[in-house]
Amino acid sequence: MSKTINILGIESSCDDTSAAIISNRKILANLIANQKVHAEYGGVVPELASRAHQKNIVPVVSQALKKANLSLNDIDAIAYTRGPGLLGSLLVGGSFAKGLSMTLQKPLIEVNHMQAHILAHFIDDNASSPNFPFLCLTVSGGHTQIVLVRDYLKMEIIGETLDDAAGEAFDKAAKMMGLPYPGGPLVDKYAQEGNAEKFSFNAGEMDNYNFSFSGLKTNILYFLRKEVDKNPNFIQENLNDLCASIQKCIIDTLFVKLEKAVKDLNINEVAIAGGVSANSGIRKRLLEKENQGWRVHIPKFEYCTDNAAMIAMVGFIKFQANDFSELSEAPQARLKF
Ligand code: KG4
Ligand code: ZN
Repeated sequence: MSKTINILGIESSCDDTSAAIISNRKILANLIANQKVHAEYGGVVPELASRAHQKNIVPVVSQALKKANLSLNDIDAIAYTRGPGLLGSLLVGGSFAKGLSMTLQKPLIEVNHMQAHILAHFIDDNASSPNFPFLCLTVSGGHTQIVLVRDYLKMEIIGETLDDAAGEAFDKAAKMMGLPYPGGPLVDKYAQEGNAEKFSFNAGEMDNYNFSFSGLKTNILYFLRKEVDKNPNFIQENLNDLCASIQKCIIDTLFVKLEKAVKDLNINEVAIAGGVSANSGIRKRLLEKENQGWRVHIPKFEYCTDNAAMIAMVGFIKFQANDFSELSEAPQARLKF
């Protein structure tokens, strides 16, 4: 039997400091330190995020090792998020990973955060793993992409947002309704009690498989202003219906393009990934597609929003492919794949 490979994964691209340990495809630990400091600003403050990563990284890594019941010597390689993300945040995780790699004399593996969201599907405790080739709708706070995944490390973005990401649309809509940051999960919660047909919102139409969500933001803003002028309690009195209607608009916009891609490329193996794939409405809409012959894949809830388990998963795949990185590789805020 081949040797078990243990990879330590480190994720610090935005406002979550996370460390995970994967043993082959099984997650032994996946710990996340969330940063509460941003809530009062209504969004992530990059400088505060880097400082919080510095504070959290050592305890998070040592707790992950403890939970996995392993020591640093049991680790075969260190995988870290090189980008895309906030540069200051990436620097903290990347520098820590490099320091550890030098000290332990263990290989270093750089990971693309967006690729990791997709490859989280291959962690062994998901309900299912997609077969290649598949289409993945990756929806997060910073990105919205339709990716054609030919193999683990052979991916092509066939469509993406030309302005705001879907998660940003959720968060900005939530902020306009007075909800705290990050508002996406709250919109999801209230939407479950609301009537999605009550109000009609519009996101712009884009070419090919691309998206735009900045128009929706303006659409919501003007609508709310007009209604609040007439009735100052309009938002409170209609919160559930507003959330349901906004969520429906975002999901409709995403699915028009996803359906087009499935049809044009004749690929009906379809996955969702990224923070917004935790949304109950998106999950439900995807599952409904099974009736039309799609084979759908939804990651486990804890592998949707930012986490180091997905970074460790890519680390495992790259380790097997002998795909290691140099200490000189700098973090990149706009890393492509
Ligand atoms: O992937 P992620 O954790 O971080 C980035 O890489 O951006 O995604 C975070 C985004 C935020 O915009 C958050 O509001 C959104 O995912 N999100 C949700 C839900 N859970 C997280 N949006 C809608 N419904 C949810 N249940
Ligand atoms: Zn992410």
